Amino acid sequence: MTNFSDILLDRRTIRKYTSEPVDDKLLNELLVMGCRASTTGNMQVYSIIITREQQMKSDLAPLHFNQKMITEAPVVLTFCADFNRFNKWCLLRKAEPGYDNFLSFITGAIDALLVAQTVCIAAESKGLGICYLGTTTYNAHKIIDLMKLPKGVIPVTTVTLGWPAEKPIQVDRLPLEAVIHKERYVDYSNENIEKYYAFKERSEDSQKFVDENKKETLAQVFTDIRYNKADNIYFSKILLGVLKSQGFLE
Ligand SMILES: Cc1cc2nc3c(=O)[nH]c(=O)nc-3n(C[C@H](O)[C@H](O)[C@H](O)COP(=O)(O)O)c2cc1C
Repeated sequence: MTNFSDILLDRRTIRKYTSEPVDDKLLNELLVMGCRASTTGNMQVYSIIITREQQMKSDLAPLHFNQKMITEAPVVLTFCADFNRFNKWCLLRKAEPGYDNFLSFITGAIDALLVAQTVCIAAESKGLGICYLGTTTYNAHKIIDLMKLPKGVIPVTTVTLGWPAEKPIQVDRLPLEAVIHKERYVDYSNENIEKYYAFKERSEDSQKFVDENKKETLAQVFTDIRYNKADNIYFSKILLGVLKSQGFLE
């Protein structure tokens, strides 16, 4: 059995899964472990929607820009910031909830992400593969409709889960010194930026990315294509609308 440090150090995102099912007992174990994650004030202001039905996956797929993991993974988990349940408990117990604000959304989102990541580590420790889907926040409004999420609930991330049918090459990380600051933040000089990003820029994958997208630099692939300003503004407006309609901007 591989030790836990090796599992963490050897991990990589898995986007292809075998047809072997993930049984309910195992999934339940992962969710129990996930729910041991730290949670704000022990309120557990999150919910997890399990998708196993093929029809639901097909309905969900376009909302994730047809990323194939949605229909191919045996399990899809949608992690939501959820004050709905907690608000209901408060009201039943003569307590006035004050959670219809932006801070509470962030609280629920942090809780949801912590439980998501803990489920992911639990899954990877059992040999399963996972992939996060950031598309959840782009189309949160459509996911809300499809999954019938009430006011107080916003999906914040999605994870596809299954037995790995691939072992992709591990992708780079910035050197540790690039992300660590001791006691106080030391701002980056141009020389440091050059140094920290050199390895990433030199990799074969990055070169391919730059060439395929007909760009001059790797950074341009991010700013002009993958995470461009126009999309960011467009989806920000939608997400702000979702925060309003789900009752977090009162
Ligand atoms: C919040 C979040 C959203 C992500 N969204 C996607 C996604 O929509 N599609 C995808 O294929 N991978 C997605 N990923 C996976 C990242 O691309 C992946 O973690 C990153 O490239 C590093 O690769 P590694 O996990 O194999 O180390 C996402 C990861 C995170 C944390």
